[in-house]
Order: sequence, then C-alpha cells, then structure tokens
Amino acid sequence: MTFATASGKIILFGEHAVVYNQPAIAVPVMQVQVKVEVQNSARPGIWIVASSIDLNSELASLAAENALRKAITRVFEILSLATLPDLKIKITSTIPVAAGLGSGAAVSIALIRALSAHLGHPFSDVMVNDLCFEIEKLHHGSPSGIDNTVITFAKPVYFIKNQPIETFQVKESFTIVIADTGLPAPTKESVGDLKKLWEADPDRWNKIFNQVGNLVRKARVAIENGQWRDLGPLMDLNQALLKQMTVSSNELENLIAAAKNAGALGAKLSGGGRGGNMIALTSPAQANQVSSALLAAGARQTIITTIQ
Ligand code: PMV
Repeated sequence: MTFATASGKIILFGEHAVVYNQPAIAVPVMQVQVKVEVQNSARPGIWIVASSIDLNSELASLAAENALRKAITRVFEILSLATLPDLKIKITSTIPVAAGLGSGAAVSIALIRALSAHLGHPFSDVMVNDLCFEIEKLHHGSPSGIDNTVITFAKPVYFIKNQPIETFQVKESFTIVIADTGLPAPTKESVGDLKKLWEADPDRWNKIFNQVGNLVRKARVAIENGQWRDLGPLMDLNQALLKQMTVSSNELENLIAAAKNAGALGAKLSGGGRGGNMIALTSPAQANQVSSALLAAGARQTIITTIQ
C-alpha cells in the first residue's frame, strides 16, 4: 500500500484580484487533510472508494470530465503504461468540500502523489503542481493556480499568476480563526460574475485590483517583519474591496461582524466568497473567544490555526 496526504489552504489576502495578475498570499492549513491510499487489488479494474461522497466506482464508469478520472488517466499517460494495473484507491478527507479550503486541489495532489509513487515513479513537486493545475482548469475555467501551488509546496506563498513560485518567511507566528458559513462557495460563478463587471468597465476594476495588490504587498512586509497585528486593518480593507467586487454575502458579513465584536483584529472572506469560509486575525489569547462567538453567530465549524 502507498499513501500520500495533502493539506487544506486559506487565502490570507488577494483572492479574485489575483486572477487579474495582482499578488495574493496563501498559507497551508495543516489541521485539515486529504489522505489517498493506493493498493494492488485482486478485483479487476481500478476502483475508487471515497465514502464521504458516497463513491465506490470503477474508473471507466466515471464521467470523462470527472477530476479523479482525469488525474488517474493523466498519471497513466505520463508514465506511458502499456497495461493498467488492478488497483483500489481509497480517499478520505477532513477538508470541507466547496468551502474555499482547497479540497479539490488537495484531493488531486494527494492522488497524483500516491499513484505515481505506487507505480514506482514518484512525481516531483513541480510535476504534481503542473498536473493539478491542468485538472483545476477543467473545473474552474480560468483559475489563477494559487490553490494547487500553496497545497503542493505546503508553505506560505506570495503568488503571482504565471510567475515562478515565491515562498517567504513568517518572522513571528500569528493566529487565524477560520469559520465556515456552511454555504457552498461557488467560485466559478463569482469569478465569472466579476469578469463580466470587469469587461463592462475595466478601468474602474483595474483600480480596485491595484488597491488590493498594494494591500498584499504591505501584508507581506508586515508578515516578514513580525508585525502581524498590522494585518488586521489590512484584512478589513481587503474585505471592503471584496464587498465591492460583489463576492461577499450576508452570511459572511454576519460572521465577520461577530468576529470583530469578539475582539478579532481584522476579518475577511477567504477564497471565492459568497459562501465558504471567512478568516479572523486574533491574538493567541483571544482565539477561543472569537471561535465561540463565530459558532454562536451560526458558523458550522471553526478551525484555529497558527501561521508559521
Ligand atoms: O478555490 P477558492 O474558492 O479558494 O478560491 C480561489 C481564489 C480565486 O482568486 C477566487 C480564484 C483563483 O483562481 O485564484
């Protein structure tokens, strides 16, 4: 048996504007993970079992555009396998689905890693990242590539579309509380709606995206200098710009207000928006209080994570 894991992720700053070539900052969230186990099987075929999504199917019975099928088929193609082995592939995950925590990219990454290793040719991080990006494109239309990058390299990244990956140092660790609205985050839809707005008035939106880029650059300096408290006001400003982009929602705003009232230093949505998760910056001492306030305000789940 061969297995691989991949973590979740959050975007700290710069979602959406990143699609328009502005920088964004994303970090892995190690508390939530996907695990993929691959083993040889006596049963003919390639069977994929993912009980959390009620899946127990043979590869060929999955739709051609299914992300799991695509990832497995591409690994076989890259390895130029003449005959396909009989395998059982088991996927388990604690990453909430469609919540902006990178569940889809994490499944692809753990699957590509486990399968390529099981077949005796473990793919390099660069190969894993490229292949995951190819699969993300099938599902999200025009993703920036931030999800696959931060999850593959499992480090804080300063990401600019189509540019070499840049990781950076967190001088002093800081605490983020993540809260799930429980609503799905329709990333493809929010990205598509914003594109229409941008097409109708590119000058207006480019100015807003530039403002986001400026915030992201300031946030990176603050993180590298250990001035994490400065991130609070930057998060609030980023959220105000995301709201203008029409990607917030009443549910997200309700949780953001609850976090701020409970003492968070700043808060914003994270990822595609409209649903999914929000994040709040707190001192380590206040994290539990902010988490309880978020649950009381209707969050489905909270995660307290340390960025380091
Ligand atoms: O995959 P999500 O929902 O965490 O969000 C992706 C971030 C966006 O900037 C909205 C889209 C992208 O491709 O970068």
